[in-house]
Amino acid sequence: MKKEEIIALIEETITVRENAYAKYSNFKVGAIVIDEDGNKHRGVNVENGSFGLTNCAERSAIFSGITNGMKEIKVICIVADTTGPVSPCGACRQVIKEFSNKETLIVLGNLKKDYKLTTIEELLPYGFVL
Ligand code: THU
Repeated sequence: MKKEEIIALIEETITVRENAYAKYSNFKVGAIVIDEDGNKHRGVNVENGSFGLTNCAERSAIFSGITNGMKEIKVICIVADTTGPVSPCGACRQVIKEFSNKETLIVLGNLKKDYKLTTIEELLPYGFVL
């Protein structure tokens, strides 16, 4: 992906993030997944008064993608209001792994549009696969 495309994707993800339901933590996260056909799937974190039921943005986007026929993640972009690029939680790394391959591009960003490009191998070395 060209730098301009990455910045445009981060900007789109920042807009999606506005829909986050982060009533308890006030920490809004947005995610966009691009699948093998180029279709985009969006997700935000959805919190709950019963805290353990909270769903992260990455998993919301991936589950929406799978619901809509996605097979593989080509690109996933995640943004939050963090000092540097956001660092996805361990559970989301495992879920990203399930639908990733070596070419999957992971874009970690923030509201200032600082970003880091990475891979699932880097984020979850020796991750579980069945
Ligand atoms: N959160 C995400 O959406 N993704 C992550 O990778 C880390 C955490 C959400 C869950 C919760 O709503 C809030 O951020 C604070 O943990």
